[in-house]
Amino acid sequence: MINLIHALPLIEGLPAAGDAADIQSLLEHGHVAYFPALEFAIERHEKSLFSGRLSEPRFRNIQLHPWDTSLRHLVCNDQDRLLLQGLLGRFARFARQLVETLLPAYAPHLFPAATGFHPVDVESRPTGMSNDEARLHVDSFPRNPTGGRRLLRVFSNVNPHGAPRVWRLGEPFPSFAAKFHSRLHAPFPLWPECLHALGITKSRRSPYDHLMLQLHDRVKADIEYQRHAPQLDFAFPPGSTWIAFTDQVLHAAMAGQFLLEQTFYLPPQAVRETEESPLQVLENLCGRRLLN
Ligand code: CO
Repeated sequence: MINLIHALPLIEGLPAAGDAADIQSLLEHGHVAYFPALEFAIERHEKSLFSGRLSEPRFRNIQLHPWDTSLRHLVCNDQDRLLLQGLLGRFARFARQLVETLLPAYAPHLFPAATGFHPVDVESRPTGMSNDEARLHVDSFPRNPTGGRRLLRVFSNVNPHGAPRVWRLGEPFPSFAAKFHSRLHAPFPLWPECLHALGITKSRRSPYDHLMLQLHDRVKADIEYQRHAPQLDFAFPPGSTWIAFTDQVLHAAMAGQFLLEQTFYLPPQAVRETEESPLQVLENLCGRRLLN
């Protein structure tokens, strides 16, 4: 199993000469760009958000959407709500500035999606087959078809007690997809239209989205694969930041508490080296186009 984590030192917020051009290429080949010393600082008045109230399982995943400044799925007091809005807004700006600096070719194409705060200890989460983040998977969202857009995500471990965020990383996307391809099937005729008409998906699910969702579900359900497939655990310490295409990188969250993350959508034409991108790999395996 090759190490897919690339540690990149930053000098005054910028990558060392020579690294700058490589970051985009690393990401497009399914690697994780890891910045060990890039800390997203928590301000003193925000410390109360880490004190325990938000650590109950019902706060598993707190999200702020750019088009809607209210916090979804959140029942908490007004003071926490304001603090969270401030924290998530600041992290969204931090993540955007980071991507624009390190990946200038992506800058004009970035579409910010949700900003998330994960205050709950991974190991205390209830486990279940399809929602189990501790099983290797590629990201695909049942309600939000991407239509081929890529999922670029920025993560910062902001744990105030020294606990690392432990990820498990799997094999590269092309070999993973080749193993599962024979078990995937095309959607039934008119099924995508039904899902959309019923409001189950927010837009029509393309054949590509249909296959990606199956990959997500099949790999999580395959206990043999989870046990024996190539894998490597990596601990991201507090005060570190990392970036990955999570629709391409097989990953699982094994341990940790207090994570910030920002998701960006990126149109497929913004990606320069596409030979390992999920769309290209699946189209090659299927022998046909998958966006329509
Ligand atoms: Co994931």
